[in-house]
Amino acid sequence: MLESIFNLLYFPPFYYYLDNLLREHIFSSQKGYITKFVIEGLNMVNVRLVDLSKHFGRVKAVDNLNLDIKDGEFVAFLGPSGCGKTTTLLMIAGIYRPTNGYIYFDDQVVNEVPPKDRNIGMVFQSYALYPHMKVYDNIAFPLKLKKRPKAEIDRKVREAAKLLNILELLDRKPSQLSGGQQQRVALARALVKEPQLFLMDEPLSNLDAKLRIQMRAELKRMQRDLGITTIYVTHDQIEAMTMADRIAVLNLGKLQQYATPVELYNRPANTFVAGFIGSLPMNLIDGDLVFGDGAAFLNLGELTIKFIGTQGSVLREVGAEGRAILGVRPEDIIVGEGEYEGDVFIIEPLGRDKIVHINAGGIILRALVPVGFDVDEGDKIRFTFVKKRIHLFDGKSGEAYF
Ligand SMILES: Nc1ncnc2c1ncn2[C@@H]1O[C@H](COP(=O)(O)OP(=O)(O)OP(=O)(O)O)[C@@H](O)[C@H]1O
Ligand SMILES: [Mg+2]
Repeated sequence: MLESIFNLLYFPPFYYYLDNLLREHIFSSQKGYITKFVIEGLNMVNVRLVDLSKHFGRVKAVDNLNLDIKDGEFVAFLGPSGCGKTTTLLMIAGIYRPTNGYIYFDDQVVNEVPPKDRNIGMVFQSYALYPHMKVYDNIAFPLKLKKRPKAEIDRKVREAAKLLNILELLDRKPSQLSGGQQQRVALARALVKEPQLFLMDEPLSNLDAKLRIQMRAELKRMQRDLGITTIYVTHDQIEAMTMADRIAVLNLGKLQQYATPVELYNRPANTFVAGFIGSLPMNLIDGDLVFGDGAAFLNLGELTIKFIGTQGSVLREVGAEGRAILGVRPEDIIVGEGEYEGDVFIIEPLGRDKIVHINAGGIILRALVPVGFDVDEGDKIRFTFVKKRIHLFDGKSGEAYF
């Protein structure tokens, strides 16, 4: 039944029809909470940040940020500590005032709208549960603030608890719960408000690795089911890659790239994104780019890479020359054959695969090979690159040529 509702909802003409119909009829007759969540999901919002900045004295915590977050989209803000993720989130929540720029919810500028009127559910790293209250009262709290009738509060608390699998914990105090259970209570409390926007700031970082993986999947499923626009702050690229529809990569308050996980991985816009995305870091190596013989040549010490075809013409078109940075992922180095040779000096077993560190004329490359591949430290080894998977960046700006 539920599944068929979701299927119907993904059929666009039906969306408009259902939206109106449900608002007028079923919604007011309150047929079951999950249905109601789904309907509320239709109320989701499009968030647009236009030239958004926040300065603290001389610190440009957020610097001229432009982003469009679609209805129902799950967007991750990803970047290292201090890059401005939380500051951006707090501006969207209305807790910080922007120094410059605008925040739109749909077509409305909300810069002057107070936090309580923005219809936002927030979940933080520190779950911020009230320790003296039972789980039930923690979840009920936002509804009590809104002075909702008791019966409605009870129904909503139980439905949210059911959705998050914590029904049997309603009588406990937060101190009697595990970290994962506390996190679920915090989510339930955000959920009962029926927000049009979820803002989550590192909500899983206090959990152990195994629980984090489990909650990651649960959160993603819940967001998909409810369709509530969600902004999720994390410095963990794996979390962002596995959960988000799109990722905004930030560094030093500036947007580096805004794209799907696959695009970020395959077409990083600059060396920062290239180095940040991917569980095994990309090899980034300084070289010198010259043209000759109808091709471009990247000289890396004793090793030369020739670029022809599309890659060669891109470089010629933009007039690339001089310092350039090679980017190649460990899995895009083929070992055991090829035009280059190097010395194996470290092998790191990873279980299914191993990382082979190759010294090729002073250049150090890390290659990923299957664990069964026969190679020892001290061996000479031949290798080559998967040419079409190579990245090349401008040595000065760090921007990608390809
Ligand atoms: N209230 C404040 N007063 C002064 N500087 C601040 C304030 N809040 C944040 N900053 C500075 O703004 C920058 C961005 O901080 P922010 O908290 O947004 O980073 P973040 O990306 O969330 O980092 P983390 O991953 O460590 O949480 C940092 O340099 C920080 O020191
Ligand atoms: Mg933060």
